[in-house]
Amino acid sequence: MRTKIVAGNWKMNLDVEASKKLAMDISTDIQNLETNNTRIIIAPTFTNLYPVINLVGMDTRIEIAAQNMHQAKSGAYTGEIAADMIQSIGVNTVILGHSERRTYFNETDKALAEKVNTALQNRMDVIFCFGEVLEDRQQNNHFSIVEIQLKKALFHLKPQDWKHIILAYEPVWAIGTGETATPEQAQEMHAFIRNLLSAKFGENVAQEVSILYGGSVKPANAKEIFSKPDVDGGLIGGAALHSQDFTALIQAIQ
Ligand code: 13P
Repeated sequence: MRTKIVAGNWKMNLDVEASKKLAMDISTDIQNLETNNTRIIIAPTFTNLYPVINLVGMDTRIEIAAQNMHQAKSGAYTGEIAADMIQSIGVNTVILGHSERRTYFNETDKALAEKVNTALQNRMDVIFCFGEVLEDRQQNNHFSIVEIQLKKALFHLKPQDWKHIILAYEPVWAIGTGETATPEQAQEMHAFIRNLLSAKFGENVAQEVSILYGGSVKPANAKEIFSKPDVDGGLIGGAALHSQDFTALIQAIQ
């Protein structure tokens, strides 16, 4: 059975006190939930990872992830953070390839392939994001764009590497816009991705990889999206910044 996952990407929001409060609120709010089958992940900004870990690190239901990392082991990369540094504070999961990184910070498929390699060499788990822009969908290119993104960054992996990969399909036109893909659009893309994985890596890998949907997931629409057979959870932006909403999303996946 595939792991269900609700992951909160806090992006560049919240100072240290607000991050600690949100993490603590989530820890408290999920106390009475039956969350055994769900991985709950939160991704604060770099400066808030350590304080949040110190606060809720003992809560085994909550995993902490970084939002990015550099591919090099160390060196002259001013402003960047290496895998070893993230791991030295106890973080073993990283979000890579978010569309905001691709768009505003020019992250290329090649750089992302290197980042994925570094993460896997360090035995980290990767939440790998990808998705088409509006124009691609309007021109009916969304399947080929997603296929290219996955092939360029992930198709060099070995079947056993996929144990450490979580996919997050995030159509760019649905991120922060209030416009979600319909549950049918999400299901259609997730099934397409699983077929691609099956053809390249075998049916076992395809059936085991969790594929999350991201893009304006809210308590009001989550249940329907999460009910689709190939949607294994969500990567959440705005709604992850409110403990009650985030908790409602965890409930919606049960
Ligand atoms: P929103 O949920 O705010 O649309 O953001 C989605 C996202 O980008 C998560 O990584």
